[in-house]
Amino acid sequence: MASPDPQHPVRVLGIAGSLRRASYNRALLRAAKDLAPAGMDIEIFDLASIPLYNADVEAQGDPEPVAAFKRAISAADGILMATPEYNHGVPGIMKNAVDWASRPPRSAVLNGKPVGVIGATPGLTGTARGQSQLRQVFEFTNSYAMPQPELLISRANEKFDAEGRLTDELTRQHLQRYLEAFSAWVLRWKQQQKQ
Ligand SMILES: Cc1cc2nc3c(=O)[nH]c(=O)nc-3n(C[C@H](O)[C@H](O)[C@H](O)COP(=O)(O)O)c2cc1C
Repeated sequence: MASPDPQHPVRVLGIAGSLRRASYNRALLRAAKDLAPAGMDIEIFDLASIPLYNADVEAQGDPEPVAAFKRAISAADGILMATPEYNHGVPGIMKNAVDWASRPPRSAVLNGKPVGVIGATPGLTGTARGQSQLRQVFEFTNSYAMPQPELLISRANEKFDAEGRLTDELTRQHLQRYLEAFSAWVLRWKQQQKQ
């Protein structure tokens, strides 16, 4: 298994598909930042300033928040998407951001990018369907979504405290193991791109 070079850390961009201040998915990314293995840096990007996709606007040039989003994806070795599930699907906020980042089609910043998909919900199914839809989207963008392990956090209200700290020990361990696997996944594609 590839391990990160301390001189060249694995740079990960964390994206939460929720704008809610007390979002569990944003809190999950903060926990990931804390629990990241040695050599992995996670920067969190806030989607609040990303407008709705509009091809007419795009034709005039990307709005600055979109350009900044694309630059952040481009600079990252891998993307970690923490998605809620809305009505058994991926929330529009997340899908809209991916739609912007998927353009222009053949030279998009998502092309060939390793991606991790995780999610948290107070519900019982742990965002399984939302995650599944998001993975499907990454087939078209030619992004490399890590197949296993998965991280599905159900009953999030019992696992995060009122300040949004991940307090459930077992979930912290699962997250840690997920991040170790994701680090190896990202490095694998990074090394392949160098060859
Ligand atoms: C429009 C809407 C639809 C939802 N649908 C689902 C759903 O299908 N499955 C689920 O587990 N939770 C569902 N929820 C509850 C969300 O999981 C919950 O609001 C969660 O806290 C959202 O993620 P966040 O904490 O990161 O904002 C829905 C919430 C909203 C607002």
